[in-house]
Amino acid sequence: MEILAILVAAGRGERLGAGRPKAFVEVAGKSLLAWAAEAFQAVPAVDALVAVVPEEERALAREILSHVTKLDAVVPGGERRQDSVQAGLRQAPPGFDGLVLVHDAARPFVERAVIEAVIAATREVGAALPVLPVVDTIKRVRDGRVLETLDRSELCGAQTPQGFRLAGLLRAYQVAEAAGLTVTDEAMALEQQGARVAAVAGSGRNRKITTPEDLAWAEDLARSGGRL
Ligand code: CTP
Ligand code: MG
Repeated sequence: MEILAILVAAGRGERLGAGRPKAFVEVAGKSLLAWAAEAFQAVPAVDALVAVVPEEERALAREILSHVTKLDAVVPGGERRQDSVQAGLRQAPPGFDGLVLVHDAARPFVERAVIEAVIAATREVGAALPVLPVVDTIKRVRDGRVLETLDRSELCGAQTPQGFRLAGLLRAYQVAEAAGLTVTDEAMALEQQGARVAAVAGSGRNRKITTPEDLAWAEDLARSGGRL
């Protein structure tokens, strides 16, 4: 086995406010978790999948993913994203020295090309993620007052999947945990140590479903046959 994908789906989905964990909310009759799992199932280079879900949703997740033949395990997540990711990493087989791809189940429409670009860059550099340049003018604001306008030319939104050599990610987490650091994505743990992280082109379709507006966008996209 060379490539293990970890789908993190253990968040509460508070901003979506659907009354249940976000990954189990459906778009065009299919849960976000199933959409994301099928995207990875369809990439030949991906060997196995691990789903990280809320403890009480494990049985439901197994049912939703019963057709996903690459699924290896469904495990409970933790309080913080990094706890959930590390729970997934513990499912890597003993002696595994391949690559892991950490993906938000909340990004249901990730394309094969994005996944494969991340894999290629991870093989080369050791760590990689897709990014999308920001389109708005970005301002730093505090207490309702603009402090400054940032130079947009180098600013990008980080997407997933984020790819790593397993050993490198485990080491970065060890250091982050020892320093009591909470990281908002996996690459940040490596950046803190000065490790190189490659950025590849992300995509508009790979949007994260966070708010009801994002869900409406996803529903429209699915219903229109996938055209943006
Ligand atoms: N996630 C996770 N474990 C956590 C927190 C987040 O597995 N403790 C996952 C979510 O399930 C999601 C991804 O990380 O697929 C991105 O997180 P986010 O969009 O913030 O999802 P939620 O935390 O579920 O949403 P919210 O912050 O609105 O509650
Ligand atoms: Mg969250």
